[in-house]
Order: sequence, then C-alpha cells, then structure tokens
Amino acid sequence: MTEPALLVRDLAQLATPAGRDAPLRGAALGEVDLLEDAFVLCRGETIERVGRMRDLPALDGEVVEVDGRGLCAIPGLVDCHTHAAFGGDRVDEFSLRAGGATYEELHARGGGILSTVRATREAGEGGLRAAVERHRGWMRRHGTTTFEAKSGYGLDRDTELASLRAVRDAGGIPTWLGAHAVPPEFADADAYLDFALAEVLPEAAQIAEAADVFLERGAFDAAQARRYLEACRAAGLALRLHGDQFTESGAIPLAVELDARSVDHLEATGHDGVRALAASGVVGVLLPASALFLGRPMPPGRALVDAGAAVALATDFNPGSAFCESLPLCCSLAATQLKLAPAEALAACTVNAAHVLGRADRLGRLAPGYRADVVLLGAPDWRYVAYHLGGDLVADVIVGGESAS
Ligand code: NIG
Ligand code: FE
Repeated sequence: MTEPALLVRDLAQLATPAGRDAPLRGAALGEVDLLEDAFVLCRGETIERVGRMRDLPALDGEVVEVDGRGLCAIPGLVDCHTHAAFGGDRVDEFSLRAGGATYEELHARGGGILSTVRATREAGEGGLRAAVERHRGWMRRHGTTTFEAKSGYGLDRDTELASLRAVRDAGGIPTWLGAHAVPPEFADADAYLDFALAEVLPEAAQIAEAADVFLERGAFDAAQARRYLEACRAAGLALRLHGDQFTESGAIPLAVELDARSVDHLEATGHDGVRALAASGVVGVLLPASALFLGRPMPPGRALVDAGAAVALATDFNPGSAFCESLPLCCSLAATQLKLAPAEALAACTVNAAHVLGRADRLGRLAPGYRADVVLLGAPDWRYVAYHLGGDLVADVIVGGESAS
C-alpha cells in the first residue's frame, strides 16, 4: 500500500539550494534552483517530486492537497546553533546593557551566563523540558524544522544530562556544551574540566552528537579547549567551538587542527583567520543576531564567502546574547550587515547548516529523497525571506510531510 501523499500545488515559486553537495562554498553557495508555478509532492516523510504544475503527474491513492497560490516554498530551515535549554530570562541584564553595561563586565561580575546557570539548575528536569518545547514552538513559527541545542547552563552532572535529554526528547539535536563557563563551586577552569570530563562526559556522550566549548578570554583558553575537545572526540562526539566572539584566542587554528565540524561566532576574526578557515573543511557559523543584540561588530561574512570558506547561518538563540529565534531575521541581517545575497543566506541556513549537523543527505533541500520539511512563505518572491525585515512571513510549515496548520 502506498503511503498517503501531501501535494502543495500552484506555488508562485519554489526555491532550493542547487546541486547535491554540502557544504556549499564559493559561487555554488549562491546558486538557487527556482521553479515558478510549481508543486512539491511529499510521500510519507519524504519528498517524492518537485516540478512545474504543467508537469504534475496523475496521482492515485489518498492525496491531501495544500493550496500554494500566492505562496513560495523554501526548504525547512535548519538552526545549527541554539542554546534553547535554559531556565529564567535575562531581561534585567538586558535593561542594564541598554544603559551602557557591557556583556563581558556582567559576566565578570558573576551575572551573564552564571545567572542563567542558577535559574536552569532551579528549573529542574520538568521545567527544562517545558522550556525547550516552548522554544521549539517559537522556532517552528519562524520556519525552523530542525534545531540543534546545547546544554551549558547546568554545569553540574544532573542538569547537564537533563538539558541534553530535554533537547533530544523535543526532537532537537543535542550538543554537550560542557565547557561554557566555570561554575562557582570550582576554583578554576582546570579543576572544573577534571570534574566534567570524568563525571559528565561518559553519559553526555551517550545522548549528545557533538561537543562545544567557549574558547574566550574569561572562559576557557586554547589549552583547556584542546584538552576538553580531545577527550570528547575520544568519546565519539563531533567537535564544535565558540570562537573569536570577542578576541582571537586561537579557536580557528585549533578547530582546523582537530578537524572540527564548525567554529561559531567569528566577530573578531581578522584576515589570517579568514584565510585559514577558507583553506579548511571547518564550517564558519555566522550568528549576526548575537552581534546585533550585543552591539558588537558583525562577523566578516562577505570576506569569508569570497575567500571560499563554507559558512552557515544560525540564531544563537539564548537568553543573554541573542534572545532571537528567527532565522528569517538572521537572513535579513546576513543580507544587510554581512553582505550575503539572499541565495547565499538561504544555503547557509539550510544545506550548510544541515552539514554542520551531519544531516546534509536528508535535510536542507527541496528535492526527491530529502525529508519533507517545507516552509511556505506568504510572499510573491522567495527572497522575501531576507527582504521582509522582521516580517510576518511564514504562512505554513510542513514537517516530515505533515502541515503544522
Ligand atoms: O553563544 N558566548 C557564549 N555563549 C553564548 C551566550 C550565552 C549567554 O550569554 O547566556 C553565545 O553567545
Ligand atoms: Fe552560542
């Protein structure tokens, strides 16, 4: 018996990153396959066919039809960098920053990340699960059909593991950010890492797919990051780094040497870093909402793309540096601040983001064999995904062949 089909018909446009490769870089990053007066046919959880309406075959069996008139289809968006597992908020800190306090000063005073650590420990497993599910709903409404989320606000064994389980059970892809900050019960970063690697890593590695570290002045230095990442790699985790957010502290050379999946942030990256990243297989993940939210310089997105680097685009959704779950807004920032073309921004938060998560064979394109995750934009042109700044853009989201509305 054939599985039920979902047909989205009469679309104004269907746009998808071209080709089959990932990650895309150079000119290929800006290539979009565009069909007008188009359909997408999903069978079960998979895309069976896309094409022009005039080429729509006769369909038998049960077919649910979605009217795509006046809408544009793009692939379900992939957010490859979020911190969605947290308790509480940082609205007080946000107000202080609006009055001139800086993020690094608040962090040094025991606020910042550590204030969210307190709230996350207090939330308990039930509170964390509810928070991740709420955040997943927010992301979905902006077209995100796949999200990664990191732990890193527990920093004790139980809360780190509860965070990872909450992400996994909400359908997210968990990353163990065991080296995010040094919690107050430890004298220094090395003593904390002794604990984290001995007591948390063995079980974290059973739940998470990747490990991440905040390599930065005031957090973990390059030697500590190396120690953490090498232990995580030995436990079977893929590697990622928060690097060059405020200072160039050796994140790119370390990411390249350890063959990490990605190095994320890059607001402080200079020419040499751009060149080194471009010559490597490591993806540079651009987080312009974080730079905007903290009033920091933007990462050198155009220079990275022009140098041939593989880049992805993500929200960095978290309560402190980027309280923003909207990838379309990040596409707008990519276009206006990073000088990426809408096509480059789209590829960066679809196929290239899927590559960072090790899923580019199934996610990030509208093509036969890919997962039936589709965003329907209420717009006459798909480039509204970047053009309509903060707009009410997403008319419907199809996840695994089922319409969310
Ligand atoms: O990616 N920079 C490190 N971690 C997060 C922010 C965490 C926070 O402020 O709570 C980031 O920006
Ligand atoms: Fe982050």
